[in-house]
Formats: sequence, structure tokens, C-alpha cells
Amino acid sequence: MQYLPSESRYDSMQYNRCGKWGLKLPAVSLGLWHNFGGVDFFENGRKMLHRAFDLGITHIDLANNYGPPPGSAEENFGKILKQDFSAYRDELIISSKAGYLMWPGPYGEWGCRKYVLASLDQSLKRMGLDYVDIFYSHRPDPNTPLEETMMALDQAVRSGKALYVGISNYPADMTKEASRILKELGTPCLIHQPKYSMFVRWVEDELLDVLEEEGIGCIPFSPLAQGLLTDKYLNGIPEGSRAAKSWGFLQESEVVPAIGKVQKLNELAQQRGQSLAQMALAWVLKDKRITSVLIGASSVQQIDNNVETLKNLDFSEEELILIEKILG
Ligand SMILES: NC(=O)c1ccc[n+]([C@@H]2O[C@H](COP(=O)([O-])OP(=O)(O)OC[C@H]3O[C@@H](n4cnc5c(N)ncnc54)[C@H](OP(=O)(O)O)[C@@H]3O)[C@@H](O)[C@H]2O)c1
Repeated sequence: MQYLPSESRYDSMQYNRCGKWGLKLPAVSLGLWHNFGGVDFFENGRKMLHRAFDLGITHIDLANNYGPPPGSAEENFGKILKQDFSAYRDELIISSKAGYLMWPGPYGEWGCRKYVLASLDQSLKRMGLDYVDIFYSHRPDPNTPLEETMMALDQAVRSGKALYVGISNYPADMTKEASRILKELGTPCLIHQPKYSMFVRWVEDELLDVLEEEGIGCIPFSPLAQGLLTDKYLNGIPEGSRAAKSWGFLQESEVVPAIGKVQKLNELAQQRGQSLAQMALAWVLKDKRITSVLIGASSVQQIDNNVETLKNLDFSEEELILIEKILG
């Protein structure tokens, strides 16, 4: 099957500037953490990438360790890129990250320069790319000076292997310091990737203020709490869902206690004429400091459903109060 992208792919997606920078990201971006690995059905991943691009999703997020096995999501993505997207590289923003365990020994994880730069080389090889658009430090390293990790990110850009750099999972104070160091080095921080959803709200305390002050964009991951904030688990744990898979990161024990709130949120979403997934994404996007929501998906239908969020992003004051009450 030869893939020809839809000619209307830029007609309805919304693109937001990343903090104060010129780079724009689609309001909905697609991450390949689950469902694109060696254990998954390759053609399903391929179809999802086609659909995403047809809907204007120009940003695809990866990391060295996505799979399982680690590295296989980048390998599969590399194959799909070569097969279907080689003519469209300049229309895509592809990110990868280094931080979690990739190989044995003292240089296979965290934030030292040796690991970060070797990992980027490996990611580029797996994806068959000359450069990534955004390269992230995936998590802060308590045992490496921040300067060292930031110098590695700066080096990635100077060597032409990345266009921009970002940080992920860094708390507010470290983000401020990382931003200062990166500015000094001459490679300012483009974006932060934190976990943020109706269920996980730590970014609201300080991080979003720091990002605004520093002009850094924000692309929250797991905005659907890995599928909890959808109608998927209302009647138990369906076969094939993330919580049912042995390699899925969503634990069964996280699902059951959340269901009471999910049911109430689902009712409100229905009153708004939206799916719960759409309401959960719109809720994250209501803060203008959010550049894009970084979703995952296991089917083309989920991508369609999530992109339709953009048709109703508004909340009334009453709805917002009710959501706070439900979330307790
Ligand atoms: N920086 C980091 O440390 C970090 C950590 C985690 C993730 N990420 C990034 O963020 C991306 C997204 O994370 P995530 O996959 O946890 O995001 P998510 O959007 O919260 O969860 C995605 C899952 O929700 C379900 N889903 C999505 N849309 C749905 C819909 N419309 N209706 C019903 N169910 C729906 C699917 O579950 P089923 O598979 O069960 O169908 C899907 O796999 C990752 O791919 C990765 O790129 C980054």
C-alpha cells in the first residue's frame, strides 16, 4: 500500500507557538511510548501514523527506551518514515529523549555526557535520521551536575544532531536553573514535557509559572492518565487495553479507585456533547501556557476522537467548578 497524505491535512488542526519561540506544534501531538514496539502489530502503528499526519499532527514523540523491547519503537518508526514519509521530513517535528536505562554498565542511563550523546547517536541510527527536531533530557539526574547534562544537550545542537532541546520531568526549581545554564551556553530550552492531566496536577503549583517566565513551551504527557480519563474502563478492564497488558504501564490497581470520579466526569462530558477523552484534553488545553497535548493511541479511531476535541475547547465557569468538585 502506497501512502499519499491527505491534501487537506492542514485545514483544521490548530498550531501553537512553543513558549516564546517561533516553532509551532499541533495542539494534539502523538507519542509512541505504547503500541509501536516490537510486541505490537506493525501495520496498526503504520495506519495510526498515516491518520495522524492526515489530520495535521506534525509532531511525533519518541524516546530511546520506547518499545518493548527498548529501542523498537524508534526502529519501527524509522521503517515507517522511510517507507511512507521520506518526502515529508520537513513537515515533521520528531523528538527523542535520553535518561532511562538503555544498556548495561555505568554509562547506560541518567544524565552524564557520555550516555546522553551516545544515546542520541543510537536513536538517530534506529530511526535512520540525520537529526531530531527536539532532543530531551528525559529525567533529572540527582548524581550528575546539571551543567554536564545541559552541556550534552547544547553539544547535540552544535553538532547538528538536534535542532532544539527540551527537558522532561524536571521540577520547577531545576527547570529554572537548567534554563539559565542553557541560555548561557547559547542553546535556550524550547520545551518542557511534564506529566499533567485532571488526575496529576503538580505542574500547577510552580512549574507553569516558571515556563511562562522563561518563555518555554509545555507539552504534557499522559493527558488521559494512560486511558483512565476515557470511557474505556467504565465497565471493567477490557481485553487488549493498556491495563490488561503485561507490558502496559497502567496498573490494574490504579483503575478501580478512579472509576467513581471517571463516571461523574463522563456524565459531564456527555452533557457537553463530548467524549470524556475530549473533555480531558480540552481541560488541559484551556491553559494558554500549554503548547500541545501529547496523547498516546492504540487505534485510528482514538486519534480521530482525540483530534475532534478541538471543536469544543470552551468551558463555562459552572463546568470548571463542577470538575473541581468531582476531582475533590
Ligand atoms: N517524558 C516522559 O517521561 C513520558 C512518560 C510517559 C509518556 N510520555 C509521552 O507521552 C505520550 C502519551 O502518553 P500516554 O500514552 O500515557 O498518553 P494518554 O493519552 O494519557 O494515554 C493513551 C492511552 O489512552 C487510551 N486512549 C487514547 N485515546 C482514547 C480515546 N479517545 N478513547 C478511549 N481510550 C483512549 C489508549 O489506551 P489503550 O492502549 O488501552 O487503548 C491509549 O493508549 C507517550 O507516547 C510518550 O510519547 C512521556
